[in-house]
Amino acid sequence: MKTKLILGTSIVLIACASYTLIAPTQADADRAAQKYPGTTLADLNQGKDLFDQSCGKCHSKKKSFEVSEAELLSVMPSMAKKSKLDKTKEDLVTKYLITMRPVQTVK
Ligand code: HEC
Repeated sequence: MKTKLILGTSIVLIACASYTLIAPTQADADRAAQKYPGTTLADLNQGKDLFDQSCGKCHSKKKSFEVSEAELLSVMPSMAKKSKLDKTKEDLVTKYLITMRPVQTVK
């Protein structure tokens, strides 16, 4: 019983730890700027950090890359509220997620 619990916990921890967020590159920033003019690599990195810190508390981070783009955009306002992100931070997370979707492999 105890062994099962420990084993289960380890599997969950390993599963969480193995989901690595791909670091944005200048090429990603260039791609982002076509959709969101003025977006810089620093913006994407800030979005990544905010996402990393705020969006994995209640569910997996993977979830945000698994849903469709339309679905993601529709839940972002309520998720930002849950994470207590202001509009500026919400926008940074949105730009990061939308830009990195094709790059971030869902494992
Ligand atoms: C306080 C807990 C909490 C935080 C923090 C949170 N979420 Fe969620 N999230 C939920 C719950 C609960 C659901 C499922 C119910 C719902 O859709 O509201 C959900 C659902 C989702 C979904 C899936 C929607 C679907 O259609 O399946 C996505 C994508 C998502 N969250 C992204 C995010 C992002 C991005 C952030 C950070 C900005 C975030 N979440 C922060 C609780 C949270």
